[in-house]
Amino acid sequence: MSRIYLSPPEIRPEDYTALDAVLASNWVAPVGPHLEAFESAICSRVDEKRHAVAVNSGTAALHLALLVLGVGAGDAVLCPTLTFAASANPVRYCGAEPIFIDSEAQSWNMDPALLEAALQSEENIKAVVVVHLYGQCAEMDAIEALCRKYKVALIEDAAEALGATYEGRPAGSFGDLSFFSFNGNKIITTSGGGMLLSGNRDWIEKARYLATQARQPVRHYEHREIGYNYRLSNVLAALGTSQLARLDAIIEQRKEHYLAYKDALGGLDGFAMMPLRDNGTPNYWLSCVQVGDRRDAIVEALEAESIEARPIWKPLHMQPVFTTSPCYGGAQAERLFAEWLCLPSGTSLTAAERQRVITVVRACAV
Ligand SMILES: Cc1ncc(COP(=O)(O)O)c(C=O)c1O
Repeated sequence: MSRIYLSPPEIRPEDYTALDAVLASNWVAPVGPHLEAFESAICSRVDEKRHAVAVNSGTAALHLALLVLGVGAGDAVLCPTLTFAASANPVRYCGAEPIFIDSEAQSWNMDPALLEAALQSEENIKAVVVVHLYGQCAEMDAIEALCRKYKVALIEDAAEALGATYEGRPAGSFGDLSFFSFNGNKIITTSGGGMLLSGNRDWIEKARYLATQARQPVRHYEHREIGYNYRLSNVLAALGTSQLARLDAIIEQRKEHYLAYKDALGGLDGFAMMPLRDNGTPNYWLSCVQVGDRRDAIVEALEAESIEARPIWKPLHMQPVFTTSPCYGGAQAERLFAEWLCLPSGTSLTAAERQRVITVVRACAV
C-alpha cells in the first residue's frame, strides 16, 4: 500500500525539461538569468507594479522584509496566532517581540477588531504581518485601512496563498511588502524557496543586497554591514518558472479534492469543511475538515492506513517558545486547533487515493 502524503511536491515531465535545460546552460552558479525570469513571472502573475527578489525560503523573505523596515530590539510586530512558527520566528531574529492576534471565525485569519485593539494599546509597533491561512485571504480591506490609520507597515505573508484572490486582487499584491514560500509542500515548489515583493524598488534592492552577503558593488569583496546567504539558486528558479506555468491547473486539482471531501464528509454529524468567504477565491492549498474531539483518533486511524493527516497549526501563543509574547484573544484559535484536521490535498492525489482517505474518516464518524 503506497503512502499518501499531506501535500507532496509534484514534478512533471516539463519540470525535468526545464531542469535539463538550465543544467545544460551551465547556469548552476547561484545567480543567473533564470532567477530574473522567475521573479518577473511571479510579478506578472501577482502585480506588474511590484519588484521581486527570489530567496531560499519564505522565512528568509520575511526576515529581509523586517530588516528593510528597520525592525530591531525593542520593537513589536503584530501577527496572527493561528499560523506556522515561520510567520513569527524572524521577528525574534531581529530582536523584536511578536504580539499575537486571534482569528476571526469566517476565514480563520487575523481578526481586524482585535488588531485594532492591539494597535490602540501597544507601543513601538513597527509592522503587522498578515497571513492568508491555507490559501484563503484575510480581510484585507479592513486590515489595510487599520495599518494606514495607525501608520504601521503591512507585510503580507502569502506563503500558502499563491493564486488566491481577495476582491479580485491577487494574494501577494497587498501590503508594503509581501512574500511567498515555494517549500516542498506548497502549491508550487522549488524544493525550498521564497520570494519577497514590494512596490518599493529601493526596498527590494536593499533586500537583494542583504541576501547576497551585503556585498558592496565593487570588484574586490567589500562588506560594510552583516549580510546573509539567502538567494535562491538559479537552477531552482527554473523549476519555479516551470511549476508556475501550470498554477491554475494545480488550483483546479486541489479544488476538486476540497469539493470531494465536502461531498463525502461535510454532511456527517459534527463535521464541516473550512468555511470559504465569498469575497475571494482560495487556492485550496489544503483541505481542512472539522472533526471535533475525534481529531487524534482520526489521525491515528489514517496513520494505520499509511495516510498522513495533521491537526491545523497549533496557535503560536500556545507554543512554549512564545509564552512570553502577549496575545489578543486566543480562544477562537484554540478551538480551531482542537477540532480541525488537514487532509491529504496533494496535486497528484488520485480519486482512488482520496477515496481511501474518505473511507477511513467516515469509519471514524459513526
Ligand atoms: C504561513 C507561513 N509563513 C511562512 C512560511 C515559511 O516558508 P518557508 O518554509 O519557505 O520558509 C510558511 C511555510 O512553510 C507558512 O506556511
